[in-house]
Amino acid sequence: GGDVFNYYSDGQWNKSSSGKFVPIINPTSRKIHFKVQACTQEEVNKAIESAKVAQKLWAKTPLWKRAELLHKAAAILKEHKAPIAECLVKEIAKPAKDAVTEVVRSGDLVSYCAEEGVRFLGEGKFLVSDSFPGNERTKYCLTSKIPLGVVLAIPPFNYPVNLAVSKIAPALISGNSIVLKPPTQGAVAALHMVHCFHLAGFPKGLISCVTGKGSEIGDFLTMHPDVSCISFTGGDTGIAISKKSAMIPLQMELGGKDACIVLEDADLDLVAANIVKGGFSYSGQRCTAVKVALVMKSVADTLVKKINDKVIKLTVGPPEDDCDITPVVTESSANFIEELVMDAKKKGATFCQEYKREGNLIWPLLMDNVRPDMRIAREEPFGPVLPVIRINSVEEGILHCNASNFGLQGCVFTKDINKAILVSDAMETGTVQINSAPARGPDHFPFQGLKESGIGSQGITNSINMMTKVKTTIINLP
Ligand code: G3P
Repeated sequence: GGDVFNYYSDGQWNKSSSGKFVPIINPTSRKIHFKVQACTQEEVNKAIESAKVAQKLWAKTPLWKRAELLHKAAAILKEHKAPIAECLVKEIAKPAKDAVTEVVRSGDLVSYCAEEGVRFLGEGKFLVSDSFPGNERTKYCLTSKIPLGVVLAIPPFNYPVNLAVSKIAPALISGNSIVLKPPTQGAVAALHMVHCFHLAGFPKGLISCVTGKGSEIGDFLTMHPDVSCISFTGGDTGIAISKKSAMIPLQMELGGKDACIVLEDADLDLVAANIVKGGFSYSGQRCTAVKVALVMKSVADTLVKKINDKVIKLTVGPPEDDCDITPVVTESSANFIEELVMDAKKKGATFCQEYKREGNLIWPLLMDNVRPDMRIAREEPFGPVLPVIRINSVEEGILHCNASNFGLQGCVFTKDINKAILVSDAMETGTVQINSAPARGPDHFPFQGLKESGIGSQGITNSINMMTKVKTTIINLP
C-alpha cells in the first residue's frame, strides 16, 4: 500500500527511471504509508546540472524580486499548512498541533529571511587604503556579498519542513540554487513544501528535491563537484560528510546531550515545567531536548517530585489525538532507547515509573539517581526518557557537562545572575540558556554546537552570511 510521490527536478514532477521506491513507514501503524521515488545517480546529476544553470540567472535577479518570491512562497506555505501537517503526523508521528506549528514557523522563517536578506545583502563596505601604514589614499575598495552556487540541503526527520526551509530560504535570498535531499520519513511533507515554492513561481531548475536511499545517492550528492555548500542537520552522518567533502563551506548541526544544571536557589516550579517541556516535547526527539538533569542534592527530592507530578500527566498515544508522547520514529530507535533504559536499570537507577513500551510507543520515563557510568548519562536516547544525576557541587555538574563529546546547548537555573553567568562561561556548549530549557528558536538567533555537535553557526543572518562569499573590487587611483 501507500500513495506514490514523484520527485521534483527541473521545475517538474518526475518518476525515477529506477522503477524503485523507498517506502515510508508510519511510526504509529508501523505499516507503509507512502512511497517516494528511489532516484538514480544520473537523476541526481541532472538535478544538480539544472540547479547550476538556473543559479547563474537567479544571481542576477534583483534582490527585491528574490525577496518578493520568497514572501509569496511563505504565504502559500501557510495556506497549505493543513495537508503538510497531516503528512508530518503520518510520517514522523509529530503531534497534530505541533505539526501545524512547524509549518507556520517555517512560513515565518521564510518571510523573515527575505526581509533580513534585503537589508543584510543590500549593504556593502567601502574601504580606503591610507589607514594601513605605508599607503596613500590611492585605493578604494568596494565589498559585496556574492552567492556560492548550488547549495545542498539535508534536513533531519524531526523537522523535515522547518529545517529544510531554514536552509532553502537563506540560500535562495542570497542568489544560490538549492538541491534538497529530504529525510526518508518526512520526505512527502518536504515534497509538499517544495510544491509551495513551485506554486510561487521560482524559475525552473532553481529548486529540486531528490528522494532516495542515502546508501545510493548520499555520497554521490555530498561529494558532487558542482555542489558548492552543504547545510546538514542530523546525526553522525554529518561527521562522515565533513571528512569526505571537498573544500566547500559546511554547516552542520549534529547531536546533543544538553544538560540542565539546577542550583539550590532555583525556582523549582519553573525548573520542573522547563524540564518536562524540554525533555519530553516531541517525545524527546529534538537535538536541543534536555537530555540530562544535573540537580544539587539538597533540592533533588523536591524537584524530582515536582517533575514527576507533571510527567504522569503527559498524555500518551497517537499523534492524531495530539498526545504529548507519540511513537518514536522507527523501531530501531525504540530499540536503542530501550537498550539505554535497560542498562540504567541493571546498574541501579531509580525508575520513577515502570518502563513501558508498545511497538514504537514508549511511555515517558524519569530516572533518578543516575550515575555517570550508566550509558544514559552520556548517550543521546532521542526518546521520552530523562536521567537525573544528583550533584554535590556546581563544579561537578559543569564537569559532567564538559566531559561530553557533544556541546550543543545547556541550561542553568538560579536566581543569582552572577552565578548564572559563571556557569554559562564554564559550560562548553554553543549556547547556554539561563532559566529556560534549550531551544533553537527564535529562528533569527545564532544556533551552533561545539565539539561533535557541529560546525558553523545557523540562525537566519548567520546562514545568509555562510551561504555567501565576500567579493571585492578595488579602484586604483593614479
Ligand atoms: O533537533 C533539531 C533542533 O534544531 C531543535 O530545534 O526548535 O526544537 O529547539 P528546536
